[in-house]
Amino acid sequence: MIDARPFEPKQIRRAYDRRSWLYGKLVAPFEFRNHRRAIDRAKIRPADKVLEVAVGPGRALLEIVKRIDRDNVALGVDAAPGMLAIARHTLAAVGYDNFDLREGDARRLDFDNDTFDVLYNAYMLDLIPFADMPGILAEFCRVLKPGGRLVLLNMSKKDDERVSWYERLYEKLPASFVLNVMGSCRPVLMGEFVEEAGFENVEREFLGGVIPSEIITAGAWCPD
Ligand SMILES: C[S@@+](CC[C@H](N)C(=O)[O-])C[C@H]1O[C@@H](n2cnc3c(N)ncnc32)[C@H](O)[C@@H]1O
Repeated sequence: MIDARPFEPKQIRRAYDRRSWLYGKLVAPFEFRNHRRAIDRAKIRPADKVLEVAVGPGRALLEIVKRIDRDNVALGVDAAPGMLAIARHTLAAVGYDNFDLREGDARRLDFDNDTFDVLYNAYMLDLIPFADMPGILAEFCRVLKPGGRLVLLNMSKKDDERVSWYERLYEKLPASFVLNVMGSCRPVLMGEFVEEAGFENVEREFLGGVIPSEIITAGAWCPD
């Protein structure tokens, strides 16, 4: 695995803000099948309190909202206001209003301890530097109820694959291309990070296809 290029959080935020419309139209459709499979694995029940971190254009949040009661509200956070605007439109356009979208950073979630039954996070940890992952996973664990379900979907690779052609490109291409075109995403293997953060029953499913990905599911029984 290779580390993320050292972009500042505000550079990431600006890049996704600028490309939010394009991302929603060009990239998100290729990822939708993987979202569906990952959200199925979350086994969301109608009364579950669900948080999606990094909602992007909101296609996954729409699938989440369809699975909960109409009077239950799904929470969503993203660093980029442009993405939040598109997500609001995605859900409102098909008649859903039981969601609450907020600007925020996965590193410091503005929610109380033990709030959520399910936390869903897709295609975000693959742009996060290794050094920030333990802190983010500790935040995910903090806001999940004991026994709550964590579901991650990330760009990934087969676990025995050495450095892939995509990783070589990621390391060699100019920083502006990596940030603005690749969105700074590279393949990651999150299972060990999730175990080290104290989650239990960590399982991984590899998905091939246009955007090779992994689904990680785990239970939150985290250290205080
Ligand atoms: C590759 S997109 C994925 C969006 C969405 N999850 C999806 O799969 O369509 C990455 C998203 O993560 C958001 N993001 C990046 N860093 C973040 C952070 N530290 N906290 C919250 N959101 C972040 C970006 O604004 C962007 O919307």
